[in-house]
Amino acid sequence: MKMLYNDRIIGRENIIDMEDRAYQFGDGVYEVIGVYDRQPFLLDEHMERLERSAKELQLKLPYATKQLKVKLEELVAVNQLVEGIIYLQVSRGIASREHYFPSSGVSPITVAYTREEERMRSVEDKGATAVLTEDIRWLRCDIKTLNLLPNVLAKQKAVENDAIESILHRGDIVTEASASNVFMVKDGNVFTHPANNYILNGITRKKIFQLCKTLGITVKEQTFTVDEMLKADEVFITATKLDVVPILKIDDKTIGNGKPGKITRKLVKEFRLCIN
Ligand code: PDD
Repeated sequence: MKMLYNDRIIGRENIIDMEDRAYQFGDGVYEVIGVYDRQPFLLDEHMERLERSAKELQLKLPYATKQLKVKLEELVAVNQLVEGIIYLQVSRGIASREHYFPSSGVSPITVAYTREEERMRSVEDKGATAVLTEDIRWLRCDIKTLNLLPNVLAKQKAVENDAIESILHRGDIVTEASASNVFMVKDGNVFTHPANNYILNGITRKKIFQLCKTLGITVKEQTFTVDEMLKADEVFITATKLDVVPILKIDDKTIGNGKPGKITRKLVKEFRLCIN
């Protein structure tokens, strides 16, 4: 198995430096990119978001994303990955531990590797359950940083409750989930939190907007409360590799009739057409 280290594809080895700022501060950005049938999915969109995240943290990417894209495609080919993900991270670099940015001579460190992963077809068909968790993250959730402890704790709570996700809420307002975006369907319209500093603007989320347009379904980027979500006709989540998953129960409340809803099923079907 090979990995990308800066601009070189090398054997996967233990190259973590104790003073990499990713390790000590979570000072870096990342992307998880789906690979279907040997092809990275929506790679340009992921590269764009990486650029944006880096810019927001004043982290200068070490090389152009155009070049990075070629390297990632090469990595997928070298590792003969058919179905799975690429994990990519760029840290601010290796420097003597101080909270402030290192001197300009310190270069960012890029690492990427691939992992085989099955498609979650059965969960997309059958649906899953979720739990509610207070959103305790910082106020820049739009940046895809390596700081994920609140997400880790929220996901752990989900797993301990045999649920797929923790749906996060700030007070009454539903934001997103620990590693996915949340949508609800009410009276034939699809609602999701607006793309601002409270959520990560998911690549899958944006794809769903396109698919809704194709299907003639109205999407409203509007906040909704926990109560409104629990009374919705349908709820679903989206994320890279998870794609679209119907949520049938949240804590002890059944959503709609407890089965994957009509609109969610249409979106699952339409999404599959894009990746097959
Ligand atoms: N997570 N919101 C959060 C907090 C996320 O971590 C993710 C993705 C999403 C969905 O984004 P996208 O559709 O671009 O994958 C929303 C990835 C998969 C992860 O951290 O593993």
